Amino acid sequence: MKDTMGIGFFDSGVGGITVLHKALKLLPGEDYIYYADTFHVPYGEKPLAEVRKYIFEAVEFIAQQQVKALVIACNAATSAAVRDLRERYPFPIMGIEPAVKPAIQQCQGNGKRVLVLATRLTLREEKFQNLVARLDDEHIVDGLALPGLVEFAEKFQFDEQTVRPYLEKALAPYDLNRYGTVVLGCTHFPLFKDTMRKIFPAQTAIIDGAQGTVMNLKRNLENQDRLGGGSGAITYYTSGIRVDEKEKLAQFQTLLAKMDEIERTEWK
Ligand code: SIN
Repeated sequence: MKDTMGIGFFDSGVGGITVLHKALKLLPGEDYIYYADTFHVPYGEKPLAEVRKYIFEAVEFIAQQQVKALVIACNAATSAAVRDLRERYPFPIMGIEPAVKPAIQQCQGNGKRVLVLATRLTLREEKFQNLVARLDDEHIVDGLALPGLVEFAEKFQFDEQTVRPYLEKALAPYDLNRYGTVVLGCTHFPLFKDTMRKIFPAQTAIIDGAQGTVMNLKRNLENQDRLGGGSGAITYYTSGIRVDEKEKLAQFQTLLAKMDEIERTEWK
């Protein structure tokens, strides 16, 4: 039987679009509700209790829209609340975690290190700390918070002249040749992959968790026999307000197009 309920995607802002982009490719036969909590972004610089309050409000709103699954397309929100959300709601909830495991596997035995780029909240929370403690036997993982990238993304500032000096300054204390893999542990960051590619050595892999999260979602829907039933339609909300002005919708579309462009360049 076709399932006409949509899939919710939640982020503090526009970063979750990078995960939605992956979902549109891998699961084109679904409809989506994208919720950006733009009134409260950034989450990564705020106290945990405050962020949790915003997340619970937003997810309650999304739940009222009748979704068949929810993707927390925000690393900070996943760290802050995914476990409690799963206890609260009947539908499956997928989170996103920094892809530390594949990064360590890629670097094991070649003497290279792993650099995790994320927000302060993600890096300091127990979820990430436990992940690293469990996997990083050789102590090769470093973390760096880049809150400026979240700000740039929310202002739709992606030009190299703005982004590159910020990144170069933040990365100046690091010897980039020592890093085999860079993990993008914030869903806003893949939007800057084009500039990052110009800064990190060509042999350094830059990875994120979007594919893993969407594959989880796919498996989950398959197991419940709830795959399909839509056509890739997206309804956008910003902090509970439905977005229907053409200009705003076009801005979201721009980000999907930007991810298309970044992927195209990567495969060249
Ligand atoms: C932020 O709101 O600070 C970014 C959240 C994230 O994707 O980790």
